[in-house]
Parts: sequence; structure tokens; C-alpha cells
Amino acid sequence: MADNEGNIDAKDFGIGIPQKQEGFFLKGNENACYGIKSRLAQVFNPRSGRAVMLAFDHGFIMGPTSGLERIDLTINPLIEYADCIMCTRGILRSIVPPTCNKPVSLRFDSGTTILTSLNDETLEDIEDAVRLNASLLAVMVAIGDPDHEGSTIRNLTKTVDMGLRYGIPTLGVTAVGKNLTRDARYLSLATRVCAENGANVIKTYYCDEHFDQVVNSCPVPIVIAGGKKLPERDALTLAKNAIDQGAAGVDMGRNIFQSDSPVGMILAVREVVHNGATVDQAYDCYQTYKAEGKCPNACCCNK
Ligand code: 5RP
Repeated sequence: MADNEGNIDAKDFGIGIPQKQEGFFLKGNENACYGIKSRLAQVFNPRSGRAVMLAFDHGFIMGPTSGLERIDLTINPLIEYADCIMCTRGILRSIVPPTCNKPVSLRFDSGTTILTSLNDETLEDIEDAVRLNASLLAVMVAIGDPDHEGSTIRNLTKTVDMGLRYGIPTLGVTAVGKNLTRDARYLSLATRVCAENGANVIKTYYCDEHFDQVVNSCPVPIVIAGGKKLPERDALTLAKNAIDQGAAGVDMGRNIFQSDSPVGMILAVREVVHNGATVDQAYDCYQTYKAEGKCPNACCCNK
């Protein structure tokens, strides 16, 4: 208990100096509550305003896909290089060490797999997300899917409402599906619908034409998925193009963990996302790490 005697009188009131006000660095989240902003600032680096999220939630629809057969062996060594990890609660509880101390984008929906109809999803329990210390709730939204559009938008809405109760932001994930196109017109519509329904961040795909229009018409930050495994240089080019056109980061999986040098690749992606590297510089980073097991420059290790 504070002592009642011998206290020094308060006198430094800064009269005449307005209280410092800080804007929030992520677009569209200025008016969010403290808990949401605080969690977003764990995921996105306030210095660069960007994030390298490592996605390995694929098993919830794909089973043990290549690179994720033994997450303890392939993914755990990569976690230290990510700003945030995206996974299911099953993998979090069974394999990810709680000592890794990384913000978690928790896969918050589950349902069908690639064997059936994808995107027929239900939601998990918000209290479990709180127990797991989630920093983002990731929910799939299947815009344009006649069977699942309505239910997945309702899932997003419910997630946003539950997240708001506990100060946890929502990541709207625009769905994958055989009949869903990935051009700017579709992606603008899908990302905008997620944002209009309250998602704080949107995960979507890069498109070769007019991606800047997708970013600009979305009022909250966009992070891009990497998609199927590409040659490393192409994946770095995709990340670079997305960042140059306004993406706030990547939420990348296969192009990192299916690479022949996953650490080299995530370091190279970091160079693009956080340090403004060109594709050549980033590719050099990947190749050097692959050949020598160390980075070509100091900033590469600037996690
Ligand atoms: C699936 C997801 C995956 O996490 C995401 O697509 C994985 O990233 P990548 O495409 O880079 O492997 O959200 O809905």
C-alpha cells in the first residue's frame, strides 16, 4: 500500500503541452478498441506497418499435405522467423511450443475438406480462442459460392461480434474453391464484403492485373496468401508486387515450407516485406542462406 507520509508532491503537469496523441498505423483500424489495436500491433510490426505471417493451417482441409507431415520437424524451426503463426487449435495444442511467444492467427472455423464441398463451416468457441491467447480469429468467407456464401458471411459476422466482446480482431479469409475466380473484380468484391462486415484484416490472393485497385477499395489491410508452390524467385516476385501495390504483408504457407530452404525463403520474404528489398536482393538472401546457412546481410536477421 502506498505510504501516506514522505510523498513528493506532484508538480510536473506539463501545463501548456497538449497530451500526445498517436494515430494507429494500420488503415481502417483507427477507431478499434485498445485490445484489438494491441493485438494487431503484435501481428503487424509498427515500424514497417507490415507482417510476415506463416500459415500452416492447411491440414484442416487437406490433411497431411507436403511439408506438414511432421510440423514439429518442419514448422517449429521456422516459427522464430515469423511475425505471427496461423494454425488450427489442434496443432497449437499438440505441437507448437507455447514458449515460442508468437501471436497466433487462430483458424476459427472448421467443417468440410477437399474431399467434399469445402466451405461448409462452423465456428469454434470464442472462450477457447481466449484460452489459446489468439491475436486474430481467421474465418473463411466463400463469396460467390452459391451453396456457402450466406453461411460463411454469417460466420464472419458472428466471429466479428464475438471478437469484439473480447478485443480480438478478425481476419477474413477469402475462400479457395474450384469455381471462384481470382481476378481484381472478384477479389475487390470479396475483400470489400469482408471489410464491410467488420473484418479488421483480410487475407486474399494476389492478381496480376489491378491488384492496387483491390487494395485501394478495401478499407482495412490486406495480406496475401502465397498459393501453390512456385519457383522461389517467382514467389518472391509475387510478394514484392503485392507489397509494392499496397499489401500490408503476407500470410504465406506452401511457398515457404515446401521450399528447398524454408528458412532461406522466409528470411527472403522478410526482406521484401519489412526491408524494401528488390526481388534480386531477396533471391540472393534465399540462395545465400541455402548455400551457406547464414544471411548475406545483417538486416536479414532483423526479426
Ligand atoms: C486456406 C488458408 C491457408 O492458410 C492459406 O491459403 C495458406 O497459404 P498458402 O496459400 O500460402 O499455402 O487460409 O484457406
